[in-house]
Amino acid sequence: MPKKSTSSKKSDSSTRTRAAKKGARQARKSAPAFKSKYATSPLIETRHSPIHGTGVYAVAPIKKGTRILEYLGERISHAEADRRYALKDEDDGHTFLFIASNRTVIDAGVNGNDARFINHRCDPNCETVIEGGRVFIDAIRDIKPGEELGYDYQLTWESTDDPADLALYACRCGAKNCRGTMLDKEPIDKQKAKSKKKKTKKSKSKQPTKKTKQAAKRKRGR
Ligand SMILES: C[S@@+](CC[C@H](N)C(=O)[O-])C[C@H]1O[C@@H](n2cnc3c(N)ncnc32)[C@H](O)[C@@H]1O
Ligand SMILES: [Zn+2]
Repeated sequence: MPKKSTSSKKSDSSTRTRAAKKGARQARKSAPAFKSKYATSPLIETRHSPIHGTGVYAVAPIKKGTRILEYLGERISHAEADRRYALKDEDDGHTFLFIASNRTVIDAGVNGNDARFINHRCDPNCETVIEGGRVFIDAIRDIKPGEELGYDYQLTWESTDDPADLALYACRCGAKNCRGTMLDKEPIDKQKAKSKKKKTKKSKSKQPTKKTKQAAKRKRGR
């Protein structure tokens, strides 16, 4: 099931399961003591979007490089995210999940802020930046008031996923360069295989060759 560098489905209160509600109660109990200065931003507002449902819009000029807000929500494991969202409507590609690391997924369906309403755009004006396990939304170009914010979701998927399921993640951003899907260009299994191959190549090239041994000797000798 695809994930924003993520996975999954609708998570409004009407579709939340008993287990998810219990999770929300636990999250409230264990909510971090700090209050993020990026909980929301005076630079944005939420309103209806022609792309999908609610979107996020600039209400003031936003300079390239501005950190606009943080993607907030309940921090859960991948297993919990899959368990929680597997129970949701199978015909709906809606997701409030964001992969923060190999261990952590942020479920903005619980304790989320306005960042969860930022739609996917194939011609993004924002990007997500992960720092210390936290996810931030930064402007990647100057944004005018009234412009809808968007970043490339790059939803993760696997080459073994059912094409009918993947079709649920069709993109309706309307950009000239729209790639027709919110999914990442390559399946995650292929990406992992590629990076493994790269690592093996790198460690092989670390073995000193005759030439480099000689060069090292030369260096030491001088
Ligand atoms: C984090 S929500 C974004 C806010 C959403 N508009 C809402 O009202 O809840 C992500 C979901 O919005 C929808 N969405 C976002 N961008 C889209 C796009 N470019 N094309 C189609 N659906 C989109 C998909 O259902 C996606 O899983
Ligand atoms: Zn698109």
